[in-house]
Parts: sequence; structure tokens; C-alpha cells
Amino acid sequence: MSNNREAEIIEAVNKFEELLRTQIERNENIKNQPKENKEFKVIGICDGDGIGPTITNSARKVLDVLLQGEDIEIKEIKGFNIENRLEAGETVPADILAEIKKCDVLLKGPTTTPSSESSTPNLESANVFLRKTLDLYANLRPVIIPEKKIDWTFFRENTEGEYALGSQGIEIKDSLAFDFKVTTEEGTKRIARLAFEYAKANGKKKVSIITKANIMKKTDGKFLKLCKEVGSEYPEISVDSWYVDIMAANLINDEINKDFEVLILPNLYGDIITDEAAQLQGGVGTAGSANIGNGFAMFEAIHGSAPRMVEEGLTEYANPSSILRAVVMMLRHIGYASKAILLEHALDGASSEGIIVTGLPSGRKCEEITNYILKNIK
Ligand code: IPM
Ligand code: MG
Repeated sequence: MSNNREAEIIEAVNKFEELLRTQIERNENIKNQPKENKEFKVIGICDGDGIGPTITNSARKVLDVLLQGEDIEIKEIKGFNIENRLEAGETVPADILAEIKKCDVLLKGPTTTPSSESSTPNLESANVFLRKTLDLYANLRPVIIPEKKIDWTFFRENTEGEYALGSQGIEIKDSLAFDFKVTTEEGTKRIARLAFEYAKANGKKKVSIITKANIMKKTDGKFLKLCKEVGSEYPEISVDSWYVDIMAANLINDEINKDFEVLILPNLYGDIITDEAAQLQGGVGTAGSANIGNGFAMFEAIHGSAPRMVEEGLTEYANPSSILRAVVMMLRHIGYASKAILLEHALDGASSEGIIVTGLPSGRKCEEITNYILKNIK
């Protein structure tokens, strides 16, 4: 073995030790975290990349109407885009992060993540960075398909799993690459607790835990065990567990898919399964996503910045429904439930009246559905 290879191995082992210690400390910090009782006074809005400015502009117009006269400030945070991020060499430039932290909640347009093949492969996803930095541990993604009697609420763990160290893997030149998956006890218990509390508060009868614990024995094994333990404190709720592969099949099995209500998933499975679920609802352009922490919360569309749509000149056909569904969740979160319902009904009305945006010229434009909604929330 060459000296170089030997040095690389030692460097990797040292790095692993550091990662291990940091994650153990993170687990301790979660345990000691106080619950904040937050007042919501400032909503930040960032428009992001690609179709982001188009769909967040729609959300802004809707918010202006819904929150007119209310004691709440809407603050636009400018410049959170891939050009500035690349120039600063930072996932979220420090000045923008400081602005975000001054708000109580954030409505975030989609941001582009450089892929591992780009010239800046190490710039982390802005979503993932914000979720971790602001400790937004729960990713709530509701999917409702009334005609199939489907009403699912996904609780995706949002700070751990494959994402915890997603940009900190190890590579040994000409040999192999290693990524890490992390499941902490405290991180799992808090997402499980939130899901069961949600189920209880919303009259849900069943919570399903989704893992691949037959293969990822340590991480998913711990996730499954702890979720079940938390679930045992809720005798009125039935708990079952499924492997993620069969769950992907179950969601498209009309014999049983309406039986699922609340689902808890580790990060990566939650990412994948919620895209599948959103597609069943009408496409990823139709689903909202809430990233909830102890105090701060961030709301966004479930999808990315759709650079392909921009390249193909289709930006004006971008569907704002997903970010508007996120606005519904945000309004509920900050205590404006009746305004949330108003917007929800307008969105439901748009689809039942055939104001459908497909992302293509065959469908309506972003502006058309926005105008329909503005008319129907007054
Ligand atoms: C999501 C997205 C993100 C994720 C990307 C943009 C990093 O797919 O919010 O589901 O993987 O979590
Ligand atoms: Mg995703």
C-alpha cells in the first residue's frame, strides 16, 4: 500500500471521529433544547432560483390580500439565488442568513443545488443547510385525494438520516466512496412525538412507520424501535410498520392506500415517498411542505427550481399551487386558520373548475391561476 493511500485512510478515520463526536453532541443538544413559545410577527419571503421568482410572486400577492390590515410584517429578503451563493462561496450567504433569522417564519422559493457533476460540487443544498442550521426537524407534507378518500400526512424527519452528513462523505482516491447515515435517539423521539401528537389532535386513528430496518439495521432499526416506543404512549392510535419498498407499492394500491393516515419516515425515504404521493395528487406542483422546528418554521413548495422549465422557456406556466399550499400551512401555523381555509378552498375550487396548471402550454399560466385565487379569497 502506498504511503499516500495510508495517509488518506488515517485522514478518513480522523474525520470520522470528528463527525461521530459532533453528532453525539448534537444528540445531547436536542435533549436539552427548551421549547420556545413564539409570537409570529414577521414573515420573510425569499424568491430563489428558476421558477422561484414567478411562483413566490404569486404567493406574495395572495398574502398581501389575506393579511391586509393584520399586525404582521411581510419582509422580502433579496438576493438569495444561486449566482450570489456561488459568488460568496456559501450555501446561504451570511448576510442573508442573518436576515432570515430576524424573521419568525420564512416562505422560501425553490433554490438550485449544484449537482456532484458541477464545478462547485461541494455547495450544499440551501434547503438542507437551512433545515439543519435552523434545526427544522419535522417536514410535514400533506397529500389529499378526495375522490380516492386519501388523506395522508407525512412526517419526514428533516435533519438526520442520509442528509445529516450528506456533504461530508469520505473518498479514497481510485478506490471507494463512503457516505454516512445518522439516526440519533433524541432526533427520532422528537419527530415521532410530533407525529403522534398531530394524530391525536386531529382524530387520526393510525400511524405507520416506514423504514428499511431489515437492511439498515442500526439506523432504521433504532428509528423503528423508538417510534414504536413513543407510539405505545398513545393507546388510542394503532401503529403499524412497513418497509419503504412495499410502501412505495402500497401508495398506488387502491385496495389499501386510503387506510394510511399519518406516516413517519426517515429523511431520504420521506423525500422519495412524498414525491410519489404528490404525483398521485396531481403532480409535485400541487404539494406544500412545512419545515417545523422548536421556534422557527420554513414553508416551501415540495419541488425544486425546475431549471429545465426555464431553459425551455416555460417559466410562465409554472404552477404556484405547491407554494400556495405551503402558504396554507404557514397561515395555520402562525394562527390564521380561517384565512388558511379560505385559500385552501380557493385552491380546491381552481382544480374543480378546471383551472389546471400543467407546467406546459397545454395548461393555464401561473398568472391565470393566481388571478382566479385572488378573486376567490376576497
Ligand atoms: C425536498 C427536495 C430537497 C430534498 C432537495 C432540493 C435538496 O427534494 O425538499 O424534498 O432532498 O430534501
Ligand atoms: Mg424531494
